[in-house]
Amino acid sequence: MVEVDEQNAAGYVSFTAGSYGAGARFWEIGIALLPQWRGRGIGWQAQAMLCDYLFTHTPVQRIQAGTHAENVAEQKSLVKAGFQLEGVIRSCEFRAGQWRDGQMYSRLRDDPFG
Ligand SMILES: CC(C)(COP(=O)(O)OP(=O)(O)OC[C@H]1O[C@@H](n2cnc3c(N)ncnc32)[C@H](O)[C@@H]1OP(=O)(O)O)[C@@H](O)C(=O)NCCC(=O)NCCS
Repeated sequence: MVEVDEQNAAGYVSFTAGSYGAGARFWEIGIALLPQWRGRGIGWQAQAMLCDYLFTHTPVQRIQAGTHAENVAEQKSLVKAGFQLEGVIRSCEFRAGQWRDGQMYSRLRDDPFG
């Protein structure tokens, strides 16, 4: 839950575990803010704080996040939170009647940030 104060939730963040092989676990994060809280700097800060939390409390080297090609707000938000674009995931999602490409971003434990 992303809280702006004790009374109000602005949205939520999520993290799910994945693995590219034995001993190579990573987290994939997600976020959704309620419309009235978007565009105020909460999104990138919440994702940066979630990375800090996950790198502090788990030994993973890698946190990844996928987004849509048209989601400029999330792309900018991820870059501000220390992520780098890795590439295009071709035809990864069937949405609104057609297969669509996604974009994959990642932040590594030792990437420069802040
Ligand atoms: C995507 C989302 C998390 C971004 O968080 P946010 O709080 O709205 O964005 P921020 O205020 O942190 O802005 C981060 C950057 O994106 C820019 N930005 C924000 N909204 C934008 C928009 N609609 N279009 C273009 N740029 C935008 C900001 O200007 C800022 O860049 P800047 O510092 O260069 O000015 C939020 O808008 C959201 O929850 N959207 C709906 C759900 C969603 O798309 N989740 C991600 C699914 S992959």
